[in-house]
Amino acid sequence: MSKGEEDTQDSPQSVRRGMDDLIVDTTAISWVDGEGGNLFYRGISIGELAAHASFEETVYLLHCGTLPTTTQLEAFTWKLRALAFTPEKVLRILQELPRTTQPLAALQTALAALSCVDPGERYSKEESLLEKAMRIVAQTPVLLGAAYRHHRGVPIVAPRNDLNHAENFLYMLTGRIPSKREARVMELALILQMDHGFNSSTFTARAVASTLTNMYAATSAAVGALSGPLHGGASEAVVDMLQEAKSSGDVEAYTIGLLSSGGKVMGMGHRVYRNTDPRARIFENMLHDIASEQGDKPDDDLQLLKRIEAVATKYFADRGKPIFVNVDFWSGAVYRKLGIQKIMYPAIFAAARIAGWTAHILELRQDNRLYRPKSKYIGNLGVPYIPLEERT
Ligand code: CMC
Repeated sequence: MSKGEEDTQDSPQSVRRGMDDLIVDTTAISWVDGEGGNLFYRGISIGELAAHASFEETVYLLHCGTLPTTTQLEAFTWKLRALAFTPEKVLRILQELPRTTQPLAALQTALAALSCVDPGERYSKEESLLEKAMRIVAQTPVLLGAAYRHHRGVPIVAPRNDLNHAENFLYMLTGRIPSKREARVMELALILQMDHGFNSSTFTARAVASTLTNMYAATSAAVGALSGPLHGGASEAVVDMLQEAKSSGDVEAYTIGLLSSGGKVMGMGHRVYRNTDPRARIFENMLHDIASEQGDKPDDDLQLLKRIEAVATKYFADRGKPIFVNVDFWSGAVYRKLGIQKIMYPAIFAAARIAGWTAHILELRQDNRLYRPKSKYIGNLGVPYIPLEERT
């Protein structure tokens, strides 16, 4: 084999580091309009879904391809509730983890563990793939609720049959039945973050699922990808940044200092959007509504974030590199208003994105092709093997 033969594309220019702009597969689930600053699930704009749809309806849309009729939605909702029953053995595993465990790490562990306790799961043959996808979506908030409450050292709360998915999620986190308003905020957060083209964790879910392994293995791997600070971890990092900015006593000077020393303003920038992230604006509006209900103060998160956004946006624009806020800029501040601790923020992202990951696995399985890209080899060839005793 001659050097670089594995790569069918000969010129070094053909290497797309980070897979920038590389189209690896087709999908009909979501489309990110980076130039126009819009997002569509099955062709419906995220703004319309945020204004009208429920969590259950949106999951149905992603999993089944169309909006449900009333009868279909009712059946789907009841099925999701029934599938939320989570094996005791897996809940016990979560209780054995150190209390300092990040809820996302606990979820990754629990999804892997579910593949061990779900009989006949190995190749996803025992129940329909759609039912498996629904089971994973239904159990994710139960697992996350258990992980979060274990972290806080309080007893686990089981889901209730009389609450919808978003209400139950909040209930299992806080142990308190949420108000309609709080539940709708959580429901919107879940809808907004359900899917987003071939982002890193979705690509991971598809790449792993393309080996025809089970859905638990693929979603567990996706959670791992999501947990990095450049992906799902940004919402938590924004809250840390906000705290630092507050403590500095001068938010504007802090932001300029951060940027001019080569630091990153978390919650800003995006690989695809060259315009405002539409999810960010909806989150910002939510924060506005909650803040005005609660009587906003000048040092409130909303006001401070607005000041950071203004300084950073101008800084980037002045350098001819327009960069805008993304969904994670506002989400942490919204979750804080719901009384949720920051360790849980990336995990809320997972509770939403689980619907997208499972929808992508369902889509891929309709016409599976193993994901197996190539690399450009830049190492040496024909290097002699030197026996151990002769090496210096
Ligand atoms: N703060 C400061 N500089 C930035 C930022 C930022 N938030 N985002 C991009 N830049 C700069 C970057 O340093 C680079 O500068 P230069 O050209 O001088 O090297 C330039 O802009 C291009 O950046 P990049 O990292 O190559 O852009 P990308 O498209 O690969 O990065 C990103 C996208 C999300 C990794 C990046 O914007 C970032 O690290 N943002 C902060 C983390 C964050 O908010 N992540 C959440 C992403 S949205 C949620 C999701 O969909 O997962």
